[in-house]
Amino acid sequence: MKRIAIFASGNGSNAEGIVNYFKKRKTAEVAIILSNNPKAYVLERARDLGVRHITFNRADFYQSGVVLSVLKKEAIDFIVLAGFLWLVPEQLVNAYPNKILNIHPALLPKYGGKGMYGAKVHEAVKSRGEPESGITIHLVNKNYDEGDIVFQATCPVHADDTPEDIAQKVHELEYQHYPRVIDKVINK
Ligand code: GRF
Repeated sequence: MKRIAIFASGNGSNAEGIVNYFKKRKTAEVAIILSNNPKAYVLERARDLGVRHITFNRADFYQSGVVLSVLKKEAIDFIVLAGFLWLVPEQLVNAYPNKILNIHPALLPKYGGKGMYGAKVHEAVKSRGEPESGITIHLVNKNYDEGDIVFQATCPVHADDTPEDIAQKVHELEYQHYPRVIDKVINK
């Protein structure tokens, strides 16, 4: 069974959904959750779910190779980013070629790139008057939000929708599709 590492920086609702999906299906397993943010709620979720979890700092990630050695030690086959805000270093991308997936809460190539995350994305979609938004699941390369797109799903944006309304619709699409798409990519 393939072993997944999830990287998350914040709340971790997607991470929780992915853990539960694979607990049920047993087509892969989430072996560890890693966070750059010691205060991230995802760490509490990991504890409650009984999933190994660790935090790391910039040096661990970008310089010393500590994160990569944890992944090797845990025999990780595949990496899933779920609300992870740091740019993945080239060394990690090279160690996991086409084996890192990210989800972006908009329809890339629009509304992506550095600084475009969370509420900022939905506010931008709203202020441009877009008729729709959605999710993009893509492979990760060394630039933010630029790897090959694997899957997209859309939702309508109505004139009276607030950015919070858009966020909610996008989250629903994330929960519905991300675990399933990960499963498909890992086990293809
Ligand atoms: C999601 O909208 C994800 O697409 C984005 O960050 C959010 C994370 O939410 N990149 P959560 O931490 O999974 O609850």
